Amino acid sequence: MAKPPKLSLEEKAAQEFMEKIVSLCKRKGFVFQASEIYGGISNTYDYGPLGVELKRNVKEAWWRRVVTSRADVVGLDSAIIQNPKVWETSGHVGGFSDPMVDCKECKNRFRADHLVGDVCPKCGGELTAAREFNLMFKTQVGAVEGTSSVAYLRPETAQGIFLNYLNVQNSARLKPPFGIAQIGKSFRNEITPGNFVFRTREFEQAEMEFFVPPAEEQEWYAYWKQARFDWYIELGIRPENLRLREHDPDELAHYSTGCVDVEYKYPFGWGELEGIACRTDFDLTRHSEASGSKLMYFDPQTKEKYTPYVIEPAGGIDRMALTFLIDAYEEEQLENDVRVVLKFHPEIAPTTCAVFPLVKKDGMPEKAHEVEALLRRAGYTTFYDEKAAIGRRYRRQDEDGTPFCITVDGDTLTNGTVTIRHRDSMSQEHVPIDALVGRIAQAIADWKRA
Ligand code: GAP
Repeated sequence: MAKPPKLSLEEKAAQEFMEKIVSLCKRKGFVFQASEIYGGISNTYDYGPLGVELKRNVKEAWWRRVVTSRADVVGLDSAIIQNPKVWETSGHVGGFSDPMVDCKECKNRFRADHLVGDVCPKCGGELTAAREFNLMFKTQVGAVEGTSSVAYLRPETAQGIFLNYLNVQNSARLKPPFGIAQIGKSFRNEITPGNFVFRTREFEQAEMEFFVPPAEEQEWYAYWKQARFDWYIELGIRPENLRLREHDPDELAHYSTGCVDVEYKYPFGWGELEGIACRTDFDLTRHSEASGSKLMYFDPQTKEKYTPYVIEPAGGIDRMALTFLIDAYEEEQLENDVRVVLKFHPEIAPTTCAVFPLVKKDGMPEKAHEVEALLRRAGYTTFYDEKAAIGRRYRRQDEDGTPFCITVDGDTLTNGTVTIRHRDSMSQEHVPIDALVGRIAQAIADWKRA
């Protein structure tokens, strides 16, 4: 039997780096293997206390930028299970498939178009011929099994938006250009999931369909490409790790007039983080034809009537969270040891503030709890810690990515000041308790990646 290919030094370093990230995620409570006590289930993960805050912050930052900060985009939360006709019309029943091969020896399954040679990359065994494999998860609706009760878990959130085009346009009284945004779970029976939460079978998407007059398509395409790229940079992603990759004409779907990927330089190579696609009037036209509902824009005053074109920025929340985490990870060589720190943008950081009493006596814990309550009331995710030496407590928070540690010490009791220690610079400043909330808000507004 042929041997599986050996890893290059670069590939080995990338693998070791990913192992570090996975182990930090488990140790600190970002991400756990799902069903772990039963031996897990492949490529399926649960988010722990820090992970769930990280994801929530990513979703909120996306929603703020794409929806609530704008007058021309509204939100939607559509069902995961829709009428199966939706997926026939969208092309997912007939076309959403990958060619796959199985290894006759180790029984692993691979995407045929991702294989370099014609032997199994895991064990070197012989492979079967390629077969098409639909990526949608099937389920049964109701108590009776049969073809009439077959339904699918949505493989993208986008279709729910097209289905509600008229409902939203009419109820919110909108005129193109306008957008409908949605964040929610999607499901794909991926043949080759992997690289931790980069590609899984259950994942969250953040998608927005921006409906425009056809003549304005390219203008809005250019706008959204730049806007989505800039969002990642503003939230701290290093510009050298991010690029826009325009699709070649032969990569485009037949109806598409342009598509670009925001790509990130992952340890395992450049990979898609988000796609921005020109979908023309394809989806609205197909659903109009199949359903009989005219999904068009009609202006009763001017009698203007047309099917809008669509620009679609579509990203994955899990992939975004992983990207922010990988990009934030730094090991800093200090005099006596190495500091592991996650330099998250404060808006993304799972915990914003940690509060410590310098010592566990002299009324400091009580005062520190008051400061903790003050920060929680102001809306900051806050963690209280009185265990271990202060230096150790700082390090624990560095690994969590907490941007601000606030220490209550002797001065707090005598003159009402606390010490803020800044995660990235490790610099310290004294501020009166009364000014603390305002100072944190200012530091968040001023934050720039060093
Ligand atoms: N409506 C268009 C659409 O769904 P896509 O490129 O298939 O486009 C959009 O998906 C984004 O969803 C991707 O850029 C990626 O971030 C995320 N995504 C797709 N499949 C994923 C998977 N199996 N695991 C995690 N994220 C995934």
